[in-house]
Amino acid sequence: PLVGTGELVAEARAEGRAVAAFNVITLEHAEAIAAGAEAAGAPAILQISENAVKFHGGRLAPIAAAAVAVARASSAPLALHLDHVESVDLLHAAHPEGFSSVMFDASKLSYGDNVKATAEAVRWGHERGIWIEAELGKVGGKDGEPPLDAHAPGVRTDPAEAAVYAEETGVDALAVAVGSSHAMTARTASLDHELIARLREAVPVPLVLHGSSGVPDEEIRRAVAAGMAKINVGTALNTAFTRAVRAHLDADPKVVDPRKYVRPARDAMAATVADFLGVVNGAVSG
Ligand code: G3H
Ligand code: ZN
Repeated sequence: PLVGTGELVAEARAEGRAVAAFNVITLEHAEAIAAGAEAAGAPAILQISENAVKFHGGRLAPIAAAAVAVARASSAPLALHLDHVESVDLLHAAHPEGFSSVMFDASKLSYGDNVKATAEAVRWGHERGIWIEAELGKVGGKDGEPPLDAHAPGVRTDPAEAAVYAEETGVDALAVAVGSSHAMTARTASLDHELIARLREAVPVPLVLHGSSGVPDEEIRRAVAAGMAKINVGTALNTAFTRAVRAHLDADPKVVDPRKYVRPARDAMAATVADFLGVVNGAVSG
């Protein structure tokens, strides 16, 4: 069924788990996330990023409708989230019938402008019952940016500033920069666990880890145990999908029907989803 992001995150936090949120680019992503969630017996969040909307010609409605239909048909509890929204027009397109949450991303702005824009987004969201996530600090690696120097000032999230930011903006959840980076294809990131603990202490709202594709299972487990409540995964699904497509095309150069190679690729993506769900829900192996 289609459920709300806020309730999934609150339940997970109360139980010492986290919720995994997976990026949807195509219909097959949504299908794979639902299949992975059903296999793992766990809820999940389907998230559509502003970049994915741009890929679909700037049209949110078709891919959102597909994700909603997949969620409604699934036996797993699935929520729909709009991710990394920089455009206020796109924020306003997040219709509450489908989207229960939006990440409004003003992380490229100065601190003061970030607070102002995010507080406005929160006001808009709360009038409609939409849960709003925001980012303070810079996770980096989006849109092909070069990797950030994670130790440069202003890159990692400062706990005292984050506490003031949460208060001033009224956000429901906060994405923090603690050592992960977007679009990593190897799982080699190491997180600053001391910083996560200080942020957890200082910030009353749930914390969100972005760029989790590059974070090893054990590091994710420690972050969840320390109170990280939403774990965002995108690239790892595409790595699994594309590897399976490539293997099929290499083995069968005459294939024409996309179902022949998209089916195993979608299955590979579903298996990756189930693996991440095992980790964030506290499975022991990995
Ligand atoms: O908001 C989306 C996530 O941060 C995905 O990051 O593609 O590096 O896993 P990733
Ligand atoms: Zn992200």
